[in-house]
Amino acid sequence: MTSFWSIWVIVLTLACLFIIFGLLVWNLTNYTGVKEGESCGHEFDGIEELNNPLPKWWTYMFFATFVWSVYYLAAYPGLGNWEGLGKWTSSNQGITSLAESKQAVEDAQADGRFVKLDAEYRAADERFGPIFAAFAQQDIETLATDEKALEIGQRLFAQNCSQCHGSDARGGQGFPNLTDKDWLYGGTPDKIKETLLHGRIAAMPPWGAALGEQGVKEMTAHVLSLSGRTVNQKDASAGAAKFAMCAACHGADGKGSVAHNLPFGAPDLTDNIWLYGGSQRAVEETIINGRAGVMPAWKDILGEEKIHLLTAYVYSLSLDK
Ligand code: HEC
Ligand code: HEC
Repeated sequence: MTSFWSIWVIVLTLACLFIIFGLLVWNLTNYTGVKEGESCGHEFDGIEELNNPLPKWWTYMFFATFVWSVYYLAAYPGLGNWEGLGKWTSSNQGITSLAESKQAVEDAQADGRFVKLDAEYRAADERFGPIFAAFAQQDIETLATDEKALEIGQRLFAQNCSQCHGSDARGGQGFPNLTDKDWLYGGTPDKIKETLLHGRIAAMPPWGAALGEQGVKEMTAHVLSLSGRTVNQKDASAGAAKFAMCAACHGADGKGSVAHNLPFGAPDLTDNIWLYGGSQRAVEETIINGRAGVMPAWKDILGEEKIHLLTAYVYSLSLDK
C-alpha cells in the first residue's frame, strides 16, 4: 500500500470507530424529556412507542467489543501499513507457490524456528509413516481386497478427490465416474497409478471451424449412431465418411484410446457412457468447441505411498464383488 492509501485506511477506520462510539454514548442519554418506560406519545395500530433505554447487557457487550477492537487494532497489523505493537506477521507472507512454501519451511527449520503445521505433519508422519510404508510394500491387487488399506484409501479419497469425482466416486459432468469399467486412460493398477502421480490433460481439439455447421450436424449424427441412437441416416453416413479425422485418438471404430492402446484419453464413443453428456446439444458442443479436462498431478502433494493406497482404492471400485 502506498502511504496515501495507508493514511486513507487509518483515517476511515478510526473515524468510523469514533462515530460509532459517539452514537452509542449519545443513545444512552435521554433527550426526549419523557421519563423512562413512559409513552413517547405516538401510537400505531394499538402499538405504543415507550421510551425504553437500550438493554444493559447489550450496552456492556457493545462497549466490550469496542475495547476489543481498539486493542486488536493496536496489537495486530491492519491499520494501513502499521505493523502493530505486537509485531505479528503470518509466517508465510508473500508465498505464492508450493516450491516457495517448502523453501520457507526448510529455512525455518534450519534456523530452528518453530513451524507449527510442520511439527504436526512430522508427528503425523512418525505415527502413520510406518503404516503407509508397510502398505507400500504390497502390490495393488492385494491391497484392493485389504479392508484396512481400503478404509485409509477411502479417507484419502474423501479429502482429496471427492470435490471433483464425488464422494461416491461416480463423477459428474466433465469428471469421470471411477466405479465403472469405462476408462479414459486405462484401469490397470499401473495406468491408474500413472494418472494419479502425474495427472492428465485431455486435449479434444475444437472442430467447429473445420467442419462447418452442416459438418458438425453430420458428425454429431454419426457419433450418436455409434452408441445405437436413432439418427438421420443420411447425416450419419456423411459424418462417418469424415470420421478419419477423429480416428487418430478415438480409433476408426470410435471405441476410444484405451481400446486401441493409445495415450490420448479419448473416450469410447460407442458405449453410451458420456463424460460431457449424451444429448445432441452436448455432443455438438464438444465437437464445435473441443474439451480439455484436467486431472491434477498428486505426486508432490500426497507422495508415492499415499498414492499407492489411493490407487488400490480406485482400482477396487470397479472390481466385481
Ligand atoms: C480438480 C478436479 C479433480 C480432482 C481434485 C481430482 N480429479 Fe481425477 N480427474 C479429474 C478430471 C477432469 C479427469 C478427467 C481428465 C480428462 O478429461 O481426461 C480426472 C481423471 C481421473 C482418473 C482417470 C479416469 C479414467 O477414466 O482413466 C482417475 C483414476 C482419477 N481422476 C482419480 C482421482 C483421484 C484418486 C483423485 C484424488 C487424489 C482425483 N482424481 C482428484 C478431475 C479431478
Ligand atoms: C487429438 C485427439 C482427439 C481427436 C483428433 C478427436 N478427439 Fe474427441 N476427444 C478427445 C479427448 C482427449 C476427449 C476427452 C476430453 C476430456 O476428457 O476433456 C474427447 C472427447 C470427445 C467427446 C466427448 C465424449 C463424452 O463422453 O462426453 C466427443 C463426442 C468426441 N470427442 C468426438 C470427437 C469427434 C467427432 C472427433 C473428430 C471430429 C474427435 N472427437 C476428434 C481426443 C480427440
